[in-house]
Amino acid sequence: MGPWLSNLLILAAFCYECRGEDSVIQPPGDVIATEGEQVTLGCQFDADDTINLYLFWYKLELNGFPKFTLGRFPFGSKNATEFKDRFKARLDADTKQFPLKIQKLQLSDSAWYYCALRPTVTTGYTASL
Ligand SMILES: *[C@@H]1O[C@H](CO)[C@@H](O)[C@H](O)[C@H]1NC(C)=O
Repeated sequence: MGPWLSNLLILAAFCYECRGEDSVIQPPGDVIATEGEQVTLGCQFDADDTINLYLFWYKLELNGFPKFTLGRFPFGSKNATEFKDRFKARLDADTKQFPLKIQKLQLSDSAWYYCALRPTVTTGYTASL
């Protein structure tokens, strides 16, 4: 196989429409990149309350289940071990964006990625993360 085929990756950022009034908005199409490169997958969300946000990125492989990659919460965050070195996402509450940056791409990163927003939990208990 030539260098062309062996190096191509297709990453699709796919934003998931969530329950309730809050939603996330699908960014433009697929991203094609080469191994070793860095890509940023956009996630624009719409929520009235930008303080109590629960935002997540999932990886969906062709044959499999969604895999949690990372999440940001009002008090803290969680990074899946498998992804924590190369996957980063920073919440920008002003512009309401939560882009996922993947560094040093590997062929195994080829997948669908989707961003999800969980509306605020308004009951009086604290969930353990
Ligand atoms: C998850 O990664 C981010 C940087 O990408 C870091 O700021 C944060 O502290 C990490 N969270 C945990 C629980 O390790």
